[in-house]
Amino acid sequence: MSSLLEPIAIGGMLALRNRVVMGALTRNRCVDDMKPGQAQIDHYSQRAKDGTGLIISEGVFIDWTGSHWTNAPVMISEDHCKAWQKVVDGVHQAGGKMFFQPWHAGRCQNDLMPALKERDLPVLAASPLQASGGKYRDLPGVPGHTANLKEIENPSEIVNMFRRAVALAKRAGFDGIELLAQGGYLVQQFLVPEANTRTDDYGGPVENRCRFLLEVVDAIGDVWGGYELICVKINPTDVLHGTVMTFADLKETYDYLIKELVARKVGIVNISRRGTDLTVGDGSFTQSFPRPDGYSLPLGYDPVLDFGPLVKYPGSPSLLMANHEYTVEEADRLVKEGKLDLITFGRPFIWNPDLVTRIKYGIPLAQNDRGDTVLYGPYTSPEQGYNDWPTVAA
Ligand SMILES: Cc1cc2nc3c(=O)[nH]c(=O)nc-3n(C[C@H](O)[C@H](O)[C@H](O)COP(=O)(O)O)c2cc1C
Repeated sequence: MSSLLEPIAIGGMLALRNRVVMGALTRNRCVDDMKPGQAQIDHYSQRAKDGTGLIISEGVFIDWTGSHWTNAPVMISEDHCKAWQKVVDGVHQAGGKMFFQPWHAGRCQNDLMPALKERDLPVLAASPLQASGGKYRDLPGVPGHTANLKEIENPSEIVNMFRRAVALAKRAGFDGIELLAQGGYLVQQFLVPEANTRTDDYGGPVENRCRFLLEVVDAIGDVWGGYELICVKINPTDVLHGTVMTFADLKETYDYLIKELVARKVGIVNISRRGTDLTVGDGSFTQSFPRPDGYSLPLGYDPVLDFGPLVKYPGSPSLLMANHEYTVEEADRLVKEGKLDLITFGRPFIWNPDLVTRIKYGIPLAQNDRGDTVLYGPYTSPEQGYNDWPTVAA
């Protein structure tokens, strides 16, 4: 039997039937006022029915200031909470568990996008430094991320937005939280010297750059009554949207950060290896190299194996999860060798609604034969490229 199918408990309290985790996947299909509807209920519960150990929700915006993506969900009001409750109920009825992923895009936005423009909201950032990249197909001229940025004056106001969102998520019945601290979004913007030139307690030395993330984790811990059901998703080797760090910086930053997270006894640390030369990229957003001059990594560098032992050691309170272009075979081997506890699969879950069944019976995973539009759209109905993937049994 694949070691991925062995049960495990998060924080010693949340039993999972196996170690296969569906990663957060923004799919832009929340067409009902940025709320999930029947399409999302069907999508997530189909994957829970197949036996997925843990499902992470797509990134969900915690405030209108961080929310520019059309048809991506928000968690701001009671109405949003009720809509998500139906999704979580569907997953629970199928025997699954589900974490909520709070998200604030920070400087990776464009103030001309309707979600911000109609509300006359600024684009908030750790520092007013434009992010590289960004493609706004709905805007004339297809601009990148905006240069029109407002530095966050009081980070605790944003921490309170996280607090509000995770309190709503708790009421919706989610089993825990995965904090998105990679991909170039707000939480990571505080970590990275390229995006954070603040001179207050939130910028400069590593302890200051990690402060915002740790305050968010503490706020979640407060709402949740402990850290056991918190996962933090990080990517030390990230390059997306101006997040690249020198090897010396990333070693110092993530060494400190991971030790702080484990000292708090967070349930899971999820480490991505995007941005290394271990992964090949697929020509889309995952294309992760070459790294810019001055930012190279040691040949074959793997952040999961490097930082993993800070999380996974005898008696550790935290579990180690990894993501980015793992095959079932590699993940299985790493769990067998005691180097990983859990594995996130992202893209494979899009076109394999029966991924766990395939692992169970050794059936090769299906590949995407429909092109990149299945990821984020466009689509004519939200079901398209979302709830229309065949299973082996079908
Ligand atoms: C379409 C798409 C949307 C994604 N959305 C999110 C997201 O909302 N939050 C997040 O943390 N990661 C997001 N990711 C990253 C995945 O969760 C996962 O970490 C990544 O795809 C690597 O895993 P994989 O190689 O198995 O696909 C997204 C990836 C894709 C392809």
